[in-house]
Amino acid sequence: MLKPIPLSTPIFDGNENDFVLQAIGTKQISTAGDFINDFEKTIKNSLGKYNVALKNSGTSAIHLALRLIGIGAGDEVLCQSFTFCASANPIIYLGGTPIFIDSEPTTWNMCPDILEDAILDRIKKGKKPKAIIVVDLFGMPARFEEILEIAQKYDIPVIEDAAEALGSSIEGRECGTFGEFGVFSFNGNKIITTGSGGALISANFEAIEKSKYLAVQAREIYKYYVHKEIGFNYRMNNMSAAIGLAQFLNLDKKIALRRKVFENYQNLLNGFDGFSTILEPNGYFSNRWLSTFLVNQSEAGFSNEDVRLTLLKENIETRYLWNPLHLQPVFKDATFYGGGASEDLFSKGICLPSSENLSMDDQERIIGIIKRMYT
Ligand SMILES: Cc1ncc(COP(=O)(O)O)c(C=O)c1O
Repeated sequence: MLKPIPLSTPIFDGNENDFVLQAIGTKQISTAGDFINDFEKTIKNSLGKYNVALKNSGTSAIHLALRLIGIGAGDEVLCQSFTFCASANPIIYLGGTPIFIDSEPTTWNMCPDILEDAILDRIKKGKKPKAIIVVDLFGMPARFEEILEIAQKYDIPVIEDAAEALGSSIEGRECGTFGEFGVFSFNGNKIITTGSGGALISANFEAIEKSKYLAVQAREIYKYYVHKEIGFNYRMNNMSAAIGLAQFLNLDKKIALRRKVFENYQNLLNGFDGFSTILEPNGYFSNRWLSTFLVNQSEAGFSNEDVRLTLLKENIETRYLWNPLHLQPVFKDATFYGGGASEDLFSKGICLPSSENLSMDDQERIIGIIKRMYT
């Protein structure tokens, strides 16, 4: 059998085993424990003045951010269309209405011009949006200089969905810190993992404390169970935090390895007709969570789907870029502002295997197979 190459696999080469055994040893395996506190503090120290609350997923962190902003029935929330459904689903959980915004070509993330047009149009229609969800897709930061200026101008809070962008930055400012709230995901295939897990980030200390309270079923501190509002079971457990802390301590190494994988692809694909990618705009730093490329069929003579199928036959896993949410059957009635940018990216894009332990031999094998597609 041909050696399989996965898209993105977790690597446990730090203190994961020790920390998990320690957590078991202390019997702290639920939603209170030393590893939760240590992991939160370690992320906080890496971000500076921002506060951190660990959650059981990135999706729950987005849900709590929207809840804390006060999104409720009938409220409109502007959301990047080119993303995973988890960016928008929590809007629906709260009875809100997602309005989708197209991307721009330099970061593949929310287009500031379309964002402003959409805000003006919603205001004209008598419905000012209550929040903006911006995503740092595949690790590339969005155009926050412009987006934050627009958000401030119209006084609309921003949630930064940095689920894929832990360790990415603009001019040294970390992704996750640009909005009123930021979100990380530690799902199984992310740059670091806790199995499933996430984090909510904010400069607002009270909001982060409130999110911790809401995440444990809004239980009041009292001698017996008292609940004054409806909460959620959204806190991370101490076992996951033990894995997460060990993973986070190796984050710089993991990012360097992912960036190296991307750089190798760039070099190996150099001169291949019809292959392109996005480069980091000046001052931008991407963790290159996944190595993403566009295949222009009219220049290459084959499509992204041809690449996917050819590699699949060789036991190599690839993936389409995100299918824009305004094209999803479940959101078919949602309003969309944009041209064809995200649709174009989706129709051409492919994520190549990007694990941090991907060997040069494996990368050469992948690129050799693509090279043969030209003949
Ligand atoms: C852009 C984006 N947003 C949100 C999420 C949701 O994170 P989680 O799977 O931890 O709930 C993910 C990843 O899964 C994601 O890629």
